[in-house]
This record gives sequence, C-alpha cells and structure tokens, in this order.
Amino acid sequence: MAVERALRLIEKGQSLTVISAEPEIDIHLAAWCRQKGCSFSQLSTGKYAIERPLHFAVRGSTAERAGDASTPVACAPEHWGLAARGALVERGIHGFYFPINRSDHIWTSRMAALYRRAAAAQWNPETALNWNAVIENTSEIEDAVVQVMTYLIENETAALIIPARFAARVHPHYFEVMQLLAIQASDEARHIEVFSRRARLNRQVLGLSTAGGQASLRTLIDESDFSLATLLLSVLGEGSFLSLLQFLRKYAPDPLTRQICRLAAKDEARHVLFAMTHLTAAVRQQSDLRQKFAAAIRRRHEALTATAGLNEEVFYSLTLIAAGKTTPEALAAGHRAVKRLERFMFTGRVRRLRQLGFTEKEAQSLSALHTRNFM
Ligand SMILES: [Fe+2]
Ligand SMILES: [Fe+2]
Repeated sequence: MAVERALRLIEKGQSLTVISAEPEIDIHLAAWCRQKGCSFSQLSTGKYAIERPLHFAVRGSTAERAGDASTPVACAPEHWGLAARGALVERGIHGFYFPINRSDHIWTSRMAALYRRAAAAQWNPETALNWNAVIENTSEIEDAVVQVMTYLIENETAALIIPARFAARVHPHYFEVMQLLAIQASDEARHIEVFSRRARLNRQVLGLSTAGGQASLRTLIDESDFSLATLLLSVLGEGSFLSLLQFLRKYAPDPLTRQICRLAAKDEARHVLFAMTHLTAAVRQQSDLRQKFAAAIRRRHEALTATAGLNEEVFYSLTLIAAGKTTPEALAAGHRAVKRLERFMFTGRVRRLRQLGFTEKEAQSLSALHTRNFM
C-alpha cells in the first residue's frame, strides 16, 4: 500500500526510490511490479527504483462520473445502474432498466427536504395512540366505525401498492424520489395497521367491500404512467381522502378513532404535497402533460360509469357517525355533514387542478368526473 500510494502521487514516467531493510523485499517488489507493469531495478543493497509507467492503472481512472452528487443529470443512463449519484462508475457494468429515468418527469430540488420531513414525521402506532382509551359507542355506531375502517383499509392497500411499484421503477440516480415513494408506502403500511387494529378492537367480522369500490381502485393500480398515476391517486384521491380523514377526526365517536384519523391525515397531507411538487414541476417542463391529465381523468370516469361508485354502506356509516344519534334531526344533520364533505372534496380537487394550471371551468368539470369512491 505504501508503494502504491507513493506511485499514485508521482507523475507518470517518474521514478520512485524504495529503501527497505526487509530481507526479501526485492522478491516481493519485483513480483508486484510485474503485476502492475512497472519497471523495477535494484540500485544498491536495500535500495530499489520503481518507475511509474504511462499506463499505470489507478483503479477507476477509466471510470465515468455518475453526475454531480448534489444535482442529478437530465437523463440517467442505464449503465450507471445502482451507483450512488456522483460515484465513479467502472465500465462494463451490465445496465439495469429503470423506465423513470428523466429528471424533468420526477425530480425537483425540494425532494430531499420533503424526504427528510417525512422521515422526521414517522410515528409509532404502539406509542402514539392510546389503545386502552375507553370506547362507549353504541353497537350501531361501532358497526359504522368498523365499516368505514374496512373501506379505509382497502383504499390504503391501493395507496401502498402504487408508490411501492413506482419506487422500483425510478432510476436510483434520482434516489430522493425513490426514498419518498418508499416512505409513502411505509406510511400506508402503518395506516393499514391502525385501521385494522381499530376495526378489530370490538369486532371479529369486518364490513363490506364492494365491487364498485374495488373497480375504482383497479383503475388506479392499472395506470402505468407515473405522472398520471400520481395525479389520480395522490392529487385527486389522497386529496379527497385528506378531507375524509379531517371529517372523521371531527366527528369520530371515540378518542382513539379521532387520534388515528388525525395522525393519518398528517401523513396524507405530505403525500398530496409530494405529488403536487412533482406535478407542478412536470407540467412546467412538459407542455402536453395537462392534456394527458384531462384525458386520464375522462378515461377513468368512463371506465367507472357502469359501477356504483361509493359503497352505500360507507355513505350510510359516515352519515351515522356525523349524526352521532339516530333521531331524525340528528340523521338529517349527519346527512348534511356528509354532503358538505363531498362539496369540500370537490372544491379541494378544483383548487389543486387550478394549481396545475387548469382554468376554473376545466378544473370544475374534471373535479366532477372524479370517482364517487373518493379514492
Ligand atoms: Fe394512507
Ligand atoms: Fe397516502
């Protein structure tokens, strides 16, 4: 190592003098120099000359720099593979295929901060929630909570599958995006856990999963384009879900359900922000993206016209939860609250579509085409 290090420090063609009292050093040095292609000669007893040849191979000297560590390149090549951004990549690496490989489709300088924020906001269901809080719901209200949890779980499952799948398609050169998708999937895993635990707290049997609800989620899972899937899932779907969780936080009949919805809503707000950050940058870079968005929303709407949309059991349960009681007055108030929620979801979607550059009229008509399943 000492000889190698000294050779790296001298100019090509220059000679290095090695002095050593080690008895058999000449045998070892001669062998090492043969292997490295350096000329070797003995000057006197214990004194040797090694010349650094022109072709002296310093590892990585023919390698290619995989961009700058802090700023990614516009399009990451396959042969950089899994290398760290800014690393020296040896030639001869068999490439990996990552279809999402352009920065203008996915990356912005805000991604690193968004990831750090998401990492810092992780919470432990075991300690963040009081699972022993007393629940005194009537049997009907508890059934309603369980039905809503059942519905939330299947939606969270779609919300986990989609970012998890895209995380594996993003070129690792844009690792912040991969990290954000991974932590989003991890958030959804936690949501599945807490909603399942809440549902099973007092019940062995969960609520109804409908064909219409699953058909709606299938159209999300089937969307193979990252930006379009982000729009449908994270802007329109999770944006609406954020309103739903805020509604549940307000009307939840017991403190545990309230806590769960409060924490899940905080996570969902980050998912919506990540999506909006990605898509506002993407629409600036790709002039035809808005048209593709509008077409995707219409396509999804058409695919779902024959389905029932929102699970009627969910609508019923949300009404009952908001009503809190079963008197006609309370039920009417609960119904009004759910209708307010739907209007709130609608205007939220309009606002986000406007931020993506749609006109008020376009945003209104596209928002109206969003699935009745909310997600
Ligand atoms: Fe979630
Ligand atoms: Fe989410």
